[in-house]
Amino acid sequence: MTQCVLLTGGAGYIGSHTYAALVDAGYDVVILDNFSNAARDVPNRLEVLAGRGIHVIEADVLDRAALDTVFADHRIDAVIHFAALKSVGESVRKPLVYMQNNVGGLVTLMQAMEAAGVYRLVFSSSATVYGEAEQLPTPETAPLSYGNPYGHSKLICEQIIAETVASDPRWAVGVLRYFNPVGAHTSGLIGEDPAGVPDNLMPYVAKVAVGELPVLSVFGDDYPTPDGTGVRDYIHVSDLAEGHVLSLKALERDGTGHVVNLGTGRGYSVLELIAAYARASNRHIPYKIAPRRAGDAASSYADPSRARALLGFEAKYDLHDMCRTSWVWMQNAKKASD
Ligand SMILES: NC(=O)c1ccc[n+]([C@@H]2O[C@H](COP(=O)([O-])OP(=O)(O)OC[C@H]3O[C@@H](n4cnc5c(N)ncnc54)[C@H](O)[C@@H]3O)[C@@H](O)[C@H]2O)c1
Repeated sequence: MTQCVLLTGGAGYIGSHTYAALVDAGYDVVILDNFSNAARDVPNRLEVLAGRGIHVIEADVLDRAALDTVFADHRIDAVIHFAALKSVGESVRKPLVYMQNNVGGLVTLMQAMEAAGVYRLVFSSSATVYGEAEQLPTPETAPLSYGNPYGHSKLICEQIIAETVASDPRWAVGVLRYFNPVGAHTSGLIGEDPAGVPDNLMPYVAKVAVGELPVLSVFGDDYPTPDGTGVRDYIHVSDLAEGHVLSLKALERDGTGHVVNLGTGRGYSVLELIAAYARASNRHIPYKIAPRRAGDAASSYADPSRARALLGFEAKYDLHDMCRTSWVWMQNAKKASD
């Protein structure tokens, strides 16, 4: 039975929500993060949320000696590997940094796990491995490709995992392909607050709603979608976090791994998301139509049936919940920074 889980990148957006879900499910958790993209106060917030002390190690997943120490000092049963760089635009400018961090990080981690005799791993992959998916909704069997170094790094990681699992039956790895995680914990204590101008739509909308940014650009209104704007499968981050708990349980139960989509199976357009956020926040969200961005697909949404069948995964939160929890978190984050 898994009792103690190591979360690499556990101070980040999805990692911190997964910490909360694991504590709720009764696990002990150790977080390892280098804080390259996490706020320093996240551990304190998680302590308040969990109502108990938290174990955080500041280290890099590329630091093999630090990983060996973690495995020597704690009885780790399984690892959830979130630690990665995730900005598509930055990956185009710095491909080597992305390969080193994302691919090198996974290899170093799996080597340390092997040396410590820990073979259960949940890996953060992404729907980006489908490239511009031809099949909608997209099943796990759809062809894989990539359109940028970030996506390439995730695809290489998936291939490394498949080859490692094939080489040694002791490995049981859950590869989770996330669609578009949004929203925040219902406590309002943790959420996503990217520094500067956000890459993703929901944090951008949130910053416009709270008055930190003046106007939102909608990239393209001439896609072959009902209102012409891009359609994405948004999933509440707490549903996604629950998917990790279910993945861990499936690894324990089945002794073998899985590759599953984590999405709702329902797509929403940019304009639908803006309207939902305006309702949830009771704010006007000014936007302007801008040219399409290179590499953006018209539509992307998951076929979630394998996650339901293999993990018993079912998303509970709807678009209104995603916007409402994001809004509560944004107001709290703004108050804290004022
Ligand atoms: N957020 C999304 O839209 C999305 C979608 C698909 C997949 N993913 C994947 O999910 C994972 C988590 O994403 P997130 O949105 O929580 O990102 P995030 O940036 O909020 O969290 C990543 C965490 O990893 C840490 N980190 C990065 N490199 C590290 C290293 N070398 N050593 C130790 N810590 C390191 C960062 O400080 C951060 O706390 C990533 O692997 C990402 O690629 C995210």
